[in-house]
Amino acid sequence: MAADRAMSDVLARARHVVVFTGAGVSAESGIPTFRDALAGLWERFDAEQLATPEAFRRDPDLVWGWYEWRRMLVMRAQPNAAHRAIAELEGRVDRFTLVTQNVDDLHDRAGSRAPLRLHGSLFAPRCFECDEPAPLAPGIPQEPESGRRLAPPSCGRCGAKVRPGVVWFGEALPEAAIARAFEAAESCDVLLSVGTSSLVHPAAQVPWIAKRAGARVIQVNPNPTALDEIADLNLRTPAATALPTLVASFGLD
Ligand code: OAD
Repeated sequence: MAADRAMSDVLARARHVVVFTGAGVSAESGIPTFRDALAGLWERFDAEQLATPEAFRRDPDLVWGWYEWRRMLVMRAQPNAAHRAIAELEGRVDRFTLVTQNVDDLHDRAGSRAPLRLHGSLFAPRCFECDEPAPLAPGIPQEPESGRRLAPPSCGRCGAKVRPGVVWFGEALPEAAIARAFEAAESCDVLLSVGTSSLVHPAAQVPWIAKRAGARVIQVNPNPTALDEIADLNLRTPAATALPTLVASFGLD
């Protein structure tokens, strides 16, 4: 579905745009999404079962090994044309808010200034017990010689294990980030959802809040999602193909 004339006018005149991204925006940089089958060493595991405090308590080396493996993939990857187009969009409209569920840093490396990170970051480990931020080991993580497992470092303050700085299932989202994301969704003209299955709440509410408040919702995702129901424009195209053209339609008025 391409933008028709009425939609082109909406994009050209949009003053406040919210972009809401998920793992699909980084797929073409070579970072596997969450609900794709896990590859290689990890194919026997279910991402949702590794991403919990209970999993870390039960097997910290397995969970730390999985996140360090993901951090290694991210550090070896480059932002793609979708990340770059989103960074460009920021300069084309009066007000812009990027809300991401991703824990990689590819939006930042593409030039986006202040993404609201709803699910934390791979680059901000902290103590599992006392929350003290922990330094990152220098360089790109190596594949552990023991296969999947890698012992997490110890906290410099209390000696407990260090955990990844991401939000796990069952944990609260960072309060300020989710509040600002909901506020932006309530006041935007256009909400662009890119590469998310829209299944994980409360983050998945962001586009619905925008829709209820009267914004046009545009989705970029090659596969069907829960958002199909409310999308005013549904581009079933990979993000790195769709975004550069779509972004060029903003800010023309
Ligand atoms: P998912 O893995 O659930 O969904 C990725 C989406 O990207 C799917 O809908 C794919 O169809 C789509 N996709 C794949 N390739 C794409 C491409 N080239 N261009 C555009 N879309 C593409 O990932 P998220 O929706 O980000 O949370 O998952 C949400 C949250 O669930 C994650 O932040 C993580 C996860 O478990 C936590 O860890 C708390």
